[in-house]
Amino acid sequence: MKESIDLNNLPAHISVIMDGNGRWAKQKGFTDRIFGHRNAIQAVRETIEGCGELGVKYLTLYAFSTENWNRPKAEVMALMSLLVSTINDELPSMMKNQVRLKAIGHIESLPSKSQQELLAAIDKTANNTGLTLVLALSYSGKWDIVQAAQKLADKVEKGELKSTDINDEVMSNHLSTAGIPDPDLMIRTGGDHRISNFMLWQLAYAELYIFEDLFWPDFRKLHLHQAIVDFQMRERRFGKTSEQVKSEG
Ligand code: IPE
Ligand code: IPE
Ligand code: MG
Repeated sequence: MKESIDLNNLPAHISVIMDGNGRWAKQKGFTDRIFGHRNAIQAVRETIEGCGELGVKYLTLYAFSTENWNRPKAEVMALMSLLVSTINDELPSMMKNQVRLKAIGHIESLPSKSQQELLAAIDKTANNTGLTLVLALSYSGKWDIVQAAQKLADKVEKGELKSTDINDEVMSNHLSTAGIPDPDLMIRTGGDHRISNFMLWQLAYAELYIFEDLFWPDFRKLHLHQAIVDFQMRERRFGKTSEQVKSEG
């Protein structure tokens, strides 16, 4: 599968809705959903490595949504401590592989220990030159648009910006993903065909790839390669006709 990938036509940015951990655990006969989350680390590792090996520039992983705060308290706590331990465990290999860590979302709402570890890892990896790994934590697309609107309104209020100057580009530059290109490819495991309040603005022209029968803990490099191969067979028209796209070559 990997040999079929055209390295000159890679998605610059891949984003992933890592879904199905709970169902994976249930399927294996475990009553605790957290067992699924713990077994998802290998999938995360392979995705990061796989993107790094190919030369994908940006990878965003949807790790915890704004709405996920509404889950049972024990599951939320377990996910938060898993976040800290995973960052600690993975830091050496991120350094070795030149991975630069970033986070998007309402980071202030995370427990202080999680915030500290996260910010320390972001700091430590800041000068790495390989894959940029963006963790979406306490993130939602609506949250992102609201916080951008607040920043813009503030600038208008202070007279730093005219409301008529607000366009696509200005809006993009105030989202949490400022400076990061929009995802070209969005992968979702677990079979659900929805966005679940992920990057609502940024996914405007992303190609979607859904794994129907695969839960996130079973995701491996081979699946990443499969999604990229499929992505490369698609014609991205961005509203134009197929004939226009072909003549532009
Ligand atoms: C995704 O798996 C992980 C998070 C949302 C944190 P789920 O926990 O949503 O697993 P399912 O979808 O219930 O199987
Ligand atoms: C989306 O999964 C959020 C993450 C993967 C972090 P959910 O399991 O929360 O999504 P829904 O509830 O099925 O839409
Ligand atoms: Mg789910």
